[in-house]
This record gives sequence, C-alpha cells and structure tokens, in this order.
Amino acid sequence: MTIDTTSYKIPVARSVADLRATVAEWRKAGLTIGLVPTMGALHEGHLSLVDLVKCKCDRAVVSIFVNPTQFAPHEDLDAYPRTEAADAAKLIGRGDLIFAPTPDEMYPQGFSTTVSVAGVSGPLEGEMRPTHFAGVATIVSKLILQTLPDIAVFGEKDWQQLQVIKRIVADLNIPVEILGGPILRESDGLAMSSRNVYLSESERKAAGSLNIIVRETAAKVAAGAIIPEATREGIDRIRALGFDHVDYLEVRDAGSLAFFPTGHATAPARILVAAKIGRTRLIDNMPV
Ligand code: PAF
Repeated sequence: MTIDTTSYKIPVARSVADLRATVAEWRKAGLTIGLVPTMGALHEGHLSLVDLVKCKCDRAVVSIFVNPTQFAPHEDLDAYPRTEAADAAKLIGRGDLIFAPTPDEMYPQGFSTTVSVAGVSGPLEGEMRPTHFAGVATIVSKLILQTLPDIAVFGEKDWQQLQVIKRIVADLNIPVEILGGPILRESDGLAMSSRNVYLSESERKAAGSLNIIVRETAAKVAAGAIIPEATREGIDRIRALGFDHVDYLEVRDAGSLAFFPTGHATAPARILVAAKIGRTRLIDNMPV
C-alpha cells in the first residue's frame, strides 16, 4: 500500500487500489464510511459536508479531483482553482482520508463508458451545459463504486446535480445513501462557491444581491404569483444589478425538475438561478 502520509498531516490515496485498501481496513474494524466528492478549492461549504459525514459515520473520505469530463471545451477547466496543500490543511481534524487520483487513474487509456441520466438532467443546467451531467454522472458513479461508502454527501447548491445523483443510485440499485448538505452563505447571503474567487470587488457586491432577488421571487410565487410573470420580473432585476446574462431563473418541481404547466407550483417546488457576471457564472437555489 502506498498511502502518502508524509506530504500533509492527513493521509492521501492516489490510486483506487490504495483507497480500497484503507476502506477495507476500516470495514474490517467494523467502521462506517462516508464520502464527500469535491473538486478541491475547499471552502466552509465543503467542510460542512465533511462535518455532516462525521456526524453520521466513523470515517470520512474526501475526494479531490477536478473532473475534466464535466467541463465543456470553452469552460474553465484549466483556470479552475487547484489548491491541494491548502485543502489538505483544512481537512486536518475533520476528514480521515483524501482520495486525490490523477486523470489517468480515473480515465485510463481505453476508457469508453459514460453514465447518462434522462429526464432530470435535461432542463436548466442540462440545456446550458449539454455534456456536463454525463461527466458528473460518470465520475460520481466511479467515486461511489470505488469507495463503496455507507453514505455520500453533496451540497444542495448544485440542486439539480443532487437530483441526478439520487436518480443514478436509485436506478442502478447502488447501495449507498445520498444526502444533501444545506447551502452555506456569506454574510450577505451569497452562496459559497469555489468560483467566487473570480469575482472583482464590484462584481462581488452585485453577486451578494442575487440571493435576495431569488428569495423575493420565491416568496411571490409562494404567495400565488404566476410563475413566468414572477420570474420575468426577477430576471429584469438581476440584469439591473449588473449581471451580463441570466441563463435561467425558474421554479421547478423540486425532485424531477419538471416544469409547472399551470404557472403555479402544484408540488414541492424549488427556485433555481444561473447568471453570469464578468467571467463568473453563479448558481443558487432555494425552496419555494
Ligand atoms: O459538485 C462538484 O464539486 C462536482 O460536480 C463533483 C460532484 C465533485 C463531481 O466532480
């Protein structure tokens, strides 16, 4: 076994074999295991997911892998923040093992399989980023099958991603419990994100008002406003803040992400937004 215990004050597995060897030892000792998949650049939002795992399981594996297949060619794969040493320092006393494989370990020569999820992957992010969810579904399926944890935790900030992952696990009978961790917010309500570091000072100020508009739009819909009217007004307000483009502001069925044809929410609903300011694309969501 070649677990790296010297680089950081937390062990790091670089290969699936090493990850599995550690997990096997823990299983032999009767311990339960939780997985937090991440792309690194860890912030308090990620750490809260690790804490959630540690409330429920004896050991927490945190994977750090910037997954190339979920980025389109024009997206920020090369620029995506990679801060492994700082991430490892943040996990001391919180996580038990980092799994940080190389792209070749995850996608070896000849790799040919894609997990694709119909329905819930289709709208919203699926329309804006047509190859994104296949990349996410494939890597998350691999991470879960490599670790075989009792639970795996994902942030609710990527609400649609969470629904896609729940679908995979249900459809493929993968024996793992999927949990969502609540969105952590900055003091002005901006949802924490690894991409917030791209924001300039003026963009950061405008970004802090996005959640207020989303919350007010949700409240209008909950009070009986017609969904397309409330969201159109919300989109105008987001543009007026200085956002360059609003990809969507929509109220959807919270589980299936289906559209409400009557213009009123007839099942538990979620409001979801994606909007671009400068070079930064922000997403957020909340219950309606
Ligand atoms: O949410 C993320 O950070 C990523 O999409 C995930 C789940 C780690 C898969 O690469």
